[in-house]
Formats: sequence, C-alpha cells, structure tokens
Amino acid sequence: MIERTDNITIERKHSHVEICLHQDVGFNGKTTGFERYEFVHNALPEISFAQIDLSTTFLGRKIGAPFMISSMTGGYSAASRLNQRLAEAAEHFRIPLGVGSMRQALENASYRESFSIVRKYAPSVQIFANIGAPEVARGLSREEISTMLDMLEADGLIVHLNPAQELFQPEGNTDFRHVLEQLGNITATIPVPVIAKEVGCGISKSAAHKLLQAGVKVIDVAGAGGISWQKVEEVRYTRQFGQESRFSLEALDELLNWGIPTAQCLAAMNELKNEFPEHAGFEVVASGGISSGIDIAKSLVLGARIAASAGQILKALHAENLEKTIETWLNDLRAVMFLSGAATIEQLRNKHLFIKP
Ligand SMILES: Cc1cc2nc3c(=O)[nH]c(=O)nc-3n(C[C@H](O)[C@H](O)[C@H](O)COP(=O)(O)O)c2cc1C
Repeated sequence: MIERTDNITIERKHSHVEICLHQDVGFNGKTTGFERYEFVHNALPEISFAQIDLSTTFLGRKIGAPFMISSMTGGYSAASRLNQRLAEAAEHFRIPLGVGSMRQALENASYRESFSIVRKYAPSVQIFANIGAPEVARGLSREEISTMLDMLEADGLIVHLNPAQELFQPEGNTDFRHVLEQLGNITATIPVPVIAKEVGCGISKSAAHKLLQAGVKVIDVAGAGGISWQKVEEVRYTRQFGQESRFSLEALDELLNWGIPTAQCLAAMNELKNEFPEHAGFEVVASGGISSGIDIAKSLVLGARIAASAGQILKALHAENLEKTIETWLNDLRAVMFLSGAATIEQLRNKHLFIKP
C-alpha cells in the first residue's frame, strides 16, 4: 500500500515540475493586477544608486532582499538536485526558502534526504517546512510535526491551502473539514511560526481573518495571475482519463481561471489590518505571478513584507539561469528605488503608487 501511494506521489511531483515547465498553465486573461499600478516618478531622488540597500527583515530576521523562493518540491530522487540548487541560490542572496509538501517524507524516511539537503546548502537562511491542508485536517501528531521541523532545522511551518488544486487533482483529497480547528492545535504547540499560503487562488479577507484567529503569523496570499493549479491538475486528469471533463464546458473555463488576483489579495490584507488592529502585526507575503523586481517593489508598497515566486524561479533553474534571474529582479528593484527616491526598503514601503487611468 505504501509502495503504491509512493508511486502515485512520485508521479505527481515529477509531473508537476514537467507540466509547469512545458505546458501552458497560466490563467486565461486573468492577471495579478500589478500592471494597473505605477510608481510616482521622483525627479529629485537625492540618493546615490550605489548606496541602495535591499536588506530588510522577515519574521524578525535580517534577510538580504525582500524576496523568497516559494515552496516547490522534494520527495523523489531528482528533487534533491532541484532543492540543492534552490538552496544554493537562497544562501547566495541571503533570502528565505520554502520546501515542497513534506507528506512523502513523513510516509517514507528514504525521501527525507531530498528535503534535508536544503539545510546543508543553505545553512544560514530561514527555511520553511511545508504540509497541505488535507494532512492538517486529519490531525498531524506532534511527532510528525517535529520530524518535519527537525529535518530542515526549520524556522517555520508553511501550511498550504489548496482546495481548487485538490478538486482538480485526479487523486485529490477534498475533505477540508476541521482544517481551522487542527491548525489552531498546531499553532498552540509548535515552537516556530506558522505561515498559511494558497497555491495560486489567493486568500480573501475573511479567510485570512480566520487564519489569524487560529494563530497563524504570516499570510502568503499566493493569488491568481501566475500558475493555475487547476490547469496543472486538469492536464494530469486528461492524461489519465481522456479528454472528457467532469465539468460542463461552460463552467470549465471559469473554474480553471478561479481565484483572487494577487494585488487584490494585498488590498484585502490592508483592509483586514485596518479593521482588526489586534491583528495588525501579521506579515504578508505577496506571491502568485511575481515575474520581475517591479512586481516585488509594487508588492511592498501594497503592504507585503516580502514577495515570493515559484513558477518563474523553476523556469530560470531549468534554463540554468537561476542566480542571474534573481539578480536581474533585484536590479529591477534597485531601479524602482532609485527612480522613486528610496535608499532603503523601509523608505520604499512609504512610497506611493497611482492607478493607471
Ligand atoms: C513545481 C511546483 C511544485 C509546487 N509544490 C508546492 C508544494 O508542495 N507546496 C506548496 O505550498 N506550494 C507548491 N507550489 C506552489 C507555489 O509555491 C506557489 O504558491 C504557486 O505556484 C503560485 O506562485 P507562482 O505563480 O510564483 O508560481 C508548487 C509550485 C511549483 C511550480
């Protein structure tokens, strides 16, 4: 039984990477919403470009830039190499890194090395463990949580909320009852912060409010505009069961495109901070379709602590362009800071965006 579950999970993880790299799995016409915003040009920046400092803090720790490599993979042999490369880049730029779902490593110890390798190559940065809502809902034991955290010497646990992905996944688990209650049990006992994230459909104001009440410290909105995980799973579904969809053609387009655009999620997180001052201290990660340093800069002005990316980073890694791509994005960010007159990330956070006419 374990072996069969292993094979299905390995096939899934492998095909996730392959499909994200080679198939068109973006949203149909739906974007992040960042393109609607523009910075106010500053003709008198009164700073030197050479003096620009990208460092900031995330969860109280100093980091090299306001950017994180989002959770992707682990749990099969080829994942070790991917995770090693991601870890090397994270260490190089002194930025946080999330690993992919660790369910496989809980079920079978032989897959743990593909996760623990990350700490070996990124000894000094924040690393986050990762598990899905369905596993949380069934009730993770203290031992399972410790196993995940110890494997990485993790600085926190990311719980991904992915109902749309599970809905489309051929072998998906769509029992999302008791997630909040079990999440509350985890946050009450775990020694590190818990981050709640989506995987591309975004987190609304009311969902975020419930997550904060359950003790979550960071919301990673993972909004729409990048990869549609419904589309990724639909590709796997049609490979297994043929072209005929489970849904009406009229509904399918809308379901594949389901989700709250990333910039809209960020606006919702700001409303939440204003309406519930008792939660105002939570940190926000902007992800879902981040594809340049300008997106990172806009995210910060829209209230995010840092931005994060998975899909574009995976493509850069595949093209052997990983460090170069991140460096280019950081140069974009420096350009925006220079042209808006911000020498530090904290100054950038106070700059203004206007909505294009
Ligand atoms: C190949 C791949 C595997 C992923 N696996 C996970 C995962 O195991 N856990 C998770 O929380 N998110 C996972 N994600 C989702 C990303 O972390 C991210 O939330 C999502 O892709 C949206 O961001 P993007 O538009 O920058 O890709 C994965 C993404 C990719 C590309």
